[in-house]
Amino acid sequence: MTPRPTREDKFSFGLWTVGWQARDLFGEATRPVLAAVEAVHKLAEIGAYGITFHDDDLIPPGSDSSDRQRIIDEFKAALAQTGLEVPMVTTNLFGDPVFKDGGFTSNDRSVRRYALRKVMRNMDLAAELGAHIYVFWGGREGSEVDFAKDVRAALDRYREAIDLLAQYSIDRGYGLRFAIEPKPNEPRGDILLPSIGHALAFINQLEHKDMVGINPETGHEQMATLNYTHGIAQALWEGKLFHIDLNGQKGPRYDQDQVFGYGDLIQAFSTVDLLENGAPGGGPVYDGDRHFDYKPLRTEDMDGVWASARANMELYLTLRERARAFRADPEVQEAMTAAGVAELSRPTLDEGETHEKLLSDRAAFEDYDLEAARTKGYGFAELQRLAMEHLLAVR
Ligand code: GCO
Ligand code: MN
Ligand code: MN
Repeated sequence: MTPRPTREDKFSFGLWTVGWQARDLFGEATRPVLAAVEAVHKLAEIGAYGITFHDDDLIPPGSDSSDRQRIIDEFKAALAQTGLEVPMVTTNLFGDPVFKDGGFTSNDRSVRRYALRKVMRNMDLAAELGAHIYVFWGGREGSEVDFAKDVRAALDRYREAIDLLAQYSIDRGYGLRFAIEPKPNEPRGDILLPSIGHALAFINQLEHKDMVGINPETGHEQMATLNYTHGIAQALWEGKLFHIDLNGQKGPRYDQDQVFGYGDLIQAFSTVDLLENGAPGGGPVYDGDRHFDYKPLRTEDMDGVWASARANMELYLTLRERARAFRADPEVQEAMTAAGVAELSRPTLDEGETHEKLLSDRAAFEDYDLEAARTKGYGFAELQRLAMEHLLAVR
């Protein structure tokens, strides 16, 4: 039976996802405008708990202040009526031609100042709507011409921007936590902070690093041929997985933004297993929102849009069930033990053991049974076999 999503599952969608009119590089829109109020009602109806947006998704650029207020009021009324929440908000610093060389890292200082103001105005709205996460996806922060961008200076400016905005949130009492979203390329030839690892290293250089984490997107890591599950595991390890963008991607191509699980389904299974069950050796479980950042196929009308929105949640829930069954299966537990999965959680040195003591342990080196260690099997294949059987529900 197909599992049905409920609010407790904490599923959220970007307004720009179900609202995508499918205008792409090669063709015009294939779908009408989806009013934000309608998106709120429809998402609530299909079992989501949250809606997220870029400033410009909700308030068309160029709106005067009375239009802006009317839109916000109508949006708030729809939220109140449905109980849908706004857990995350973000800024569009990529669509307007002014941002063609980036927002925070444009070579043009006036653009950088304008970008900061645009974000600040939208942080006011985010706080007003009760958001707790603010995402930064720097799609235009990058270059095509290595000689035209001083990357070190650009990172200085990126840091300056995030430091200032963090201070703004603190001083205004907004309580926002920031989540940086890495992406290797597209729309820029090369984007700054291209992977989870780059973003985590950058965060370490920030003034308010405690309030900054990441928002990794499945497809973005896979575009860079990286393992998404490993990436989010490292983010969890560092306490930095503040938010996630789940979707599907078939290998290192353009950013496909498919439905979650469409693409590398096996990795989607390990992702859900990690998010829901934590690492097998213990460690934190993800407690943030399950946010989908996908694009409904261009071939679809609105029925297809809602079918695909449902598919994201249902596939996630199915994988969650399979992951629970996988962990609970005694044969799997046995296979995990045989594979030494839990043994990795045991420190390599004994408590208080120094390098001197390690040097004096003959069993560790001089008398070590190298031949046995060289020839033993690790039992990973059996674990993989069982995982596949659970994924396919043949167990
Ligand atoms: C992409 C990005 C964007 C961001 C969004 C939030 O697909 O390239 O994921 O969709 O997530 O703009 O700022
Ligand atoms: Mn994407
Ligand atoms: Mn995204």
